[in-house]
Amino acid sequence: MANVVVVGSQWGDEGKGKIVDWLSSRADVVVRFQGGHNAGHTLVVDGVTYKLSLLPSGVVRGGKLSVIGNGVVLDPWAFLSEVERIKEQGVKVNPENLLISESAALILPIHSELDGIRENRADGIKIGTTKRGIGPAYEDKVARRAIRVCDLADEEHLLARLENLLHHHNALRRGLGHPETNADELYAKLLEIAPKILPFMAPVWHSLNEAVRSDKKILFEGAQGAMLDIDHGTYPFVTSSNTIAGQAAAGSGMGPSALNFVLGITKAYTTRVGEGPFPTELNDAIGQRLGERGHEFGTVTGRQRRCGWFDAVMVKQAIITGGITGISLTKLDVLDGMAELKICVGYKLDGKIVKRLPAGAANQAAVEPIYESMPGWQGSTRGARSWADLPAEAVKYVRRLEELIGCPVSMVSTSPEREDVILMRDPFKA
Ligand code: GDP
Ligand code: IMO
Ligand code: MG
Repeated sequence: MANVVVVGSQWGDEGKGKIVDWLSSRADVVVRFQGGHNAGHTLVVDGVTYKLSLLPSGVVRGGKLSVIGNGVVLDPWAFLSEVERIKEQGVKVNPENLLISESAALILPIHSELDGIRENRADGIKIGTTKRGIGPAYEDKVARRAIRVCDLADEEHLLARLENLLHHHNALRRGLGHPETNADELYAKLLEIAPKILPFMAPVWHSLNEAVRSDKKILFEGAQGAMLDIDHGTYPFVTSSNTIAGQAAAGSGMGPSALNFVLGITKAYTTRVGEGPFPTELNDAIGQRLGERGHEFGTVTGRQRRCGWFDAVMVKQAIITGGITGISLTKLDVLDGMAELKICVGYKLDGKIVKRLPAGAANQAAVEPIYESMPGWQGSTRGARSWADLPAEAVKYVRRLEELIGCPVSMVSTSPEREDVILMRDPFKA
């Protein structure tokens, strides 16, 4: 049995979509287990680009079962429009190849609206969210008042569930100076959309366990990254779910023993989108160059991503909290032609050297990176598919990162294209 969990080890956008797509040729089932349509996963297959937010990246490759687990928050309207968009690109999506958990909590219009209201506060204090309603939807889930996918099948009780939900939301809306939401209107909207969602509904925990029993290989697709994890990330500048590999079990209904290999997707430098501390951020020509060469613009919101040097302290921490077994190092080609490369190996805080990212937001903002420098390379790594194709300095850079983060590199990605990968250790055979 070999199931693989793919997670981001930085602040998201590490290239998870590309690697999940590549690995899905070896898998039977691809499962999303947290997050929602805040994710933006890009796949490039023979020059054609696919952008996925809610649908597991395995959907693009025919013959795989795609699963949206109970840990995901699902906006039914965003789901249907993504299905339509991806169908227009020639991808098959139907209730035979895509399942949605009965227990997934729904994102409703009140959630995205509230997300937007909070982000647009007059005092400018914000998290820099994707405004997709992710945080408010998870709040309702934890508060036990969420509407879940299975509630769409229960017309009799749905209105009462909505009234209970709006009892809370309308108090909040009044306080924020916004008009109340009418339960009947929302009820009508949900009844209209229910017949389009319900055919996909399934007891996902059961289907996945059946799949494992019949020796199917499962690939879990994480969204966001370790530093956006609600517990282990740069709180409060995080997303509202656990993004680390442990969540793959809880967010899909499988036991943790089903998770055999954790592949941490790691960019060869660092990016972040939204607010929050970023010790190795470069607000100079080098940061700009990384952004331009790496096309660092958000897949979901189009926002410019902040760029900086590789932070080995942070990635090492992500490897420990996430139980990462191997790394897939992505976007190595973006560093081609740089004279010097810096790697953060520690921080200075109040005159002392620290080897861990502190937990408090103020300290996280105050740490100063301590850098080690390495020579860059002048040759090209773009499109390389074997170690032998890499310049010697690029190999040295990869090897040094492995030493610093204490984890082997299983794969290197050298372009956005599906097949441009150097494989050292196949996670499904490990
Ligand atoms: P995800 O959210 O982790 O799936 O990552 P995104 O898709 O949001 O962002 C990664 C971007 O980098 C996408 O535009 C990918 O097509 C692209 N990409 C992935 N791997 C590589 C790589 O090795 N080299 C380059 N140059 N681009 C890559
Ligand atoms: P993928 O899966 C990068 C960031 C937002 C914001 C914070 C909270 O493509 O790697 P949210 O809308 O989740 O409440 O926003 O998290 N964020 C991401 N950053 N990649 C993502 O997903 C992200 N999803 C959320 O920018 O800082
Ligand atoms: Mg992304």
